[in-house]
Amino acid sequence: MTIKAAVLGATGYVGGELLRLLSAHPDFELAAAVSESRAQTALAATFPHLKGAYPDAIFASHKDWVEQLDSGSSLALFSAAPHGMSAAMIAEAISRAASRNITTHVVDASADFRYADRNAFTAVYAMEHGAPELLDQFSSGLPEHVSGKPTPHIGNPGCFATAMLLGAVPLLSSGLVDEHLFISGITGSTGSGRNATAGTHHPERHSNLYAYKALEHRHAPEVAAMTQAASGTLPKLHFVPHSGPYARGIHATIHARLKSQASRDDLLKHFEQTYAGQPFVRLVDGTPRLKNVVASNYAEIGVAVDDEAVVAMVAIDNLVKGAAGGAVQWMNRLWDLDDARGLEAAAPAWT
Ligand SMILES: NC(=O)c1ccc[n+]([C@@H]2O[C@H](COP(=O)([O-])OP(=O)(O)OC[C@H]3O[C@@H](n4cnc5c(N)ncnc54)[C@H](OP(=O)(O)O)[C@@H]3O)[C@@H](O)[C@H]2O)c1
Repeated sequence: MTIKAAVLGATGYVGGELLRLLSAHPDFELAAAVSESRAQTALAATFPHLKGAYPDAIFASHKDWVEQLDSGSSLALFSAAPHGMSAAMIAEAISRAASRNITTHVVDASADFRYADRNAFTAVYAMEHGAPELLDQFSSGLPEHVSGKPTPHIGNPGCFATAMLLGAVPLLSSGLVDEHLFISGITGSTGSGRNATAGTHHPERHSNLYAYKALEHRHAPEVAAMTQAASGTLPKLHFVPHSGPYARGIHATIHARLKSQASRDDLLKHFEQTYAGQPFVRLVDGTPRLKNVVASNYAEIGVAVDDEAVVAMVAIDNLVKGAAGGAVQWMNRLWDLDDARGLEAAAPAWT
């Protein structure tokens, strides 16, 4: 049985990647690509690379897309809307679907449901939460670190958060390192979304590399909370993000101090146990490379150790593993499908 899928914020970069992944998914079928700004325009006019998958599709309007679904049907709802907008849009969709007896699971790629507490959200994002009444129906974390289905809906961790969590959680749960994690992360320009800004302008970005918001990145508190939930230890995160000279991909380098001497084998064994049976995490002998993962849902992790310190290096695609692919991975689980369903395509490597 195919499950109808809908995407809010469908004209953005994450929205486009959700549409691409859904076009090849064996169990989800796109019913509505919902757009505020481009409703009733051809999907292929915004995303020419998806013309083969959706030759005749048009973006749906917010006002009536739920009413086009069959009463009593099932809905996999993704949101790729901006934080601060997403929660209210999701709340409205859930309510309209419920009134038509449509069973709904939601995965939100925005930050709106990454905190369990509305005040914590407001403290970081300086705005009221759009649907506080739904917070207890959402939880956040990586499918690699959470067993089963904790809540009916999921707030997917962000792209930097995904890379950091993949390295930080096994480091801390090993018990071999202290709680200070020093992290440098480099992201591609698609991390900022489709609207051009000075920081994404090609002449600024091309052949350039620079840090921004050093030690004050707003996603650090939510990563610390998710790391604690998954590892049992609240880390002290010292995070410096960087803008890299490429369109997609994140490379994160996580340094930690060893509590007592430990070998690379000790650490690697713990990483292997943490990710045993996980389809998308590859532990590499040496250092990870972006081209091995970009445009795929895979993550590569490398580990290096000296007498006093350990470093975990993580490479992911920000739009897939860090957003759309991670969201589909969660949605698979919410509908009792294998986590990997529809996501196993290899990275193209020579992009
Ligand atoms: N880019 C990444 O690497 C990445 C990674 C992880 C998570 N995320 C999160 O995923 C979400 C989407 O990111 P993105 O990079 O795809 O952003 P984007 O390219 O800017 O797209 C966001 C989409 O949301 C809709 N939108 C914009 N302003 C809106 C408003 N005021 N009210 C309602 N809808 C509005 C727009 O679609 P319509 O106007 O057509 O509806 C737009 O296409 C964000 O919450 C972001 O934080 C992004």
